[in-house]
Amino acid sequence: MVIAMAEMTLDLKRLSKTAAYDELQQAASAVLHGVNDPICAMATLSALLHHGFGHLWTGFYRVVAPGLLRVGPYQGTLGCLEIPFGKGVCGTAAAERRSVVVPDVEAFPGHITCDGRSKSEIVVPVFDAHKDLIAVLDIDSDRLSTFDNEDRVRLELLMAWFSTVQVD
Ligand code: SME
Repeated sequence: MVIAMAEMTLDLKRLSKTAAYDELQQAASAVLHGVNDPICAMATLSALLHHGFGHLWTGFYRVVAPGLLRVGPYQGTLGCLEIPFGKGVCGTAAAERRSVVVPDVEAFPGHITCDGRSKSEIVVPVFDAHKDLIAVLDIDSDRLSTFDNEDRVRLELLMAWFSTVQVD
């Protein structure tokens, strides 16, 4: 069966979060079936999440050296290239190996502004099958309080799935 790529474009914007993340996970499982390449998977998940939900910026910062994140596959305007652990939202999530939900970026001390339109943000750690931190997933919105606990739980589940399928 030949599937035109345009038909693969998900539109999740009118769904409830629960239904949207269900559809997203189904699409990710189908598109990435048999793929054993974390960069390919990061690029594909960025595109699915970004266009499906209509986010402002969606992508991965990869751990490239001890204590250092560098921008990886993403969708959106130019991202900062490198973020040390402990700096900004991404660096905080990486240093503490936990998700960080920011309802208002102006209220987060040390937030790094890459796109001035960003108003709220979520960052989720990404681990490999050995539980080593390999990246963080960073999603930015141009609206306040876009992300809540449901986003955190569902994105953590998506990243847990990512960890199990990306076995080197
Ligand atoms: N806002 C992030 C920096 C990355 S960009 O938004 C793409 C932060 O404070 O970690």
